[in-house]
Amino acid sequence: MPGLVATQQPAEKLGGYDFYHKVLGSPKYVVAPMVDQSELAWRTLSRRYGAQLAYTPMINAKMFADGSRTNFREKNFNTVLGEEGSPQDRPLIVQLCGNDPQKMLTTAKCLEAHCDAIDINLGCPQDVARRGHYGSYLQDEWDLVHELINTLHRNLSVPVTAKFRVFSTVEKTVEYAQMLERAGAQILTCHGRTREQRGQKAGLADWEKIRAVKEAVKVPVFANGNVLFYSDIARCLAATGADAVMSAEGNLYNPALFCPAPALPSCSSDVAAPASDAATTLPVSTSEGILQGLSGLHPPHAELAREYLDIVKSQKTPTSPSAVKGHLFKLMRPALGRETDLRERLGKAHIVASEGAKAWIPYEEIVEEMRVRMERDAKVAEGKSLEELITIEPSTGLPVLPHWLAQPYFRPLPSPTPTQKGTSASAKTELVPPAERAEPVEFPEDTESAQAALDCPQSDSPPCKRIAEADELADEAAKRVKTT
Ligand SMILES: Cc1cc2nc3c(=O)[nH]c(=O)nc-3n(C[C@H](O)[C@H](O)[C@H](O)COP(=O)(O)O)c2cc1C
Repeated sequence: MPGLVATQQPAEKLGGYDFYHKVLGSPKYVVAPMVDQSELAWRTLSRRYGAQLAYTPMINAKMFADGSRTNFREKNFNTVLGEEGSPQDRPLIVQLCGNDPQKMLTTAKCLEAHCDAIDINLGCPQDVARRGHYGSYLQDEWDLVHELINTLHRNLSVPVTAKFRVFSTVEKTVEYAQMLERAGAQILTCHGRTREQRGQKAGLADWEKIRAVKEAVKVPVFANGNVLFYSDIARCLAATGADAVMSAEGNLYNPALFCPAPALPSCSSDVAAPASDAATTLPVSTSEGILQGLSGLHPPHAELAREYLDIVKSQKTPTSPSAVKGHLFKLMRPALGRETDLRERLGKAHIVASEGAKAWIPYEEIVEEMRVRMERDAKVAEGKSLEELITIEPSTGLPVLPHWLAQPYFRPLPSPTPTQKGTSASAKTELVPPAERAEPVEFPEDTESAQAALDCPQSDSPPCKRIAEADELADEAAKRVKTT
């Protein structure tokens, strides 16, 4: 490649399954890259509850490569305070987005010592990615994608991996995946939705296409999409043959998604014991079958929120107030519809990060109030079996857990339910496993206003977009300064 001199690879650089087993420790449960949401504090919480590998939010390589932007660098990956990428934050894959191999390499070189691999985002479907010419909008430029991956493959001391969306046909999806592998990607994460499947059109992920990819390449494959309940994990692994599942939405609404209900000890050893036994776990199955498969851990969400805030406060690395607010809205969502005063307070709370641990007091007060009210409600329900407490949402046929428990959030699929290969969405609703009957929110609500209202779930301005747009604006401003 012009301008780049390939360096000698250190002998110990492992690839493919050697890397997956020996460096990453054969993870099966993976936290997805999520802008403003898979930050250090959230990764810490998720690892406590069974996540075995985590990705950073995507980092704009062009912005990071510019060494003068120290503020941008520290906000996106703080190497100064020593927590991000430390042994407690491993295994960790740093995700980059961009279209310039040189800038991508410059950024990756800055971060390679702080992570186990560098991932390239080839899946972002947002307009900002189209304008910025990255993410899924590189899907049509295979030579460029090859060059991006190959440049990192040849020049980094850690492996390069890639996360991508499927094409409309299996054949093209497989061909693309094979090209990514040839270019040097050592793990492929396949999101089973196409570039067009976003927002209201997100629909279901196609596990059959993921299976075809898995069968066509030799490197490990992570399956992404349609994993909302613990029971979906085994179904997804069986259907796709993938080596691991990656979750975004499911993890955000229930960071204990990867924990089986009756087997807390099998999760990370420092999993906090949930406060109220009566309100934490679901039966593995019931004679009615309605609860069958809901075998995961669903801790009280206010407990999770409190634990998350404690982590935020205990870390030296600052967590952005917008990330924290976004997490609190998602975690406590099952109860915010009824506790409208708390919802309003959360929406209006203004955090000044420079005030240190004290800054979080407004959030702590809201979470504590929520915890007290949820304990009150759980107490009223004492003596009832969990089956009695679960309701079925009529439009989706999905079980709704008691409102004090963390649980997935989904909105009904547009009807009639589209038929898609690889899922049983074409089957009669009552025969379809829960998580296939509704679509997850592909990108999140706006963390400030739309979440406060909770009636604007498909905001045009999700954090991903807002942050990327802010990056673009800063970039343009910098250009103007240079040219004036
Ligand atoms: C809040 C949020 C932020 C996201 N940010 C990123 C990102 O930075 N990079 C990326 O590759 N995908 C991003 N995604 C997409 C997810 O990684 C994942 O591919 C998608 O949500 C489908 O997985 P799910 O069905 O488990 O939600 C984001 C998704 C959400 C919900």
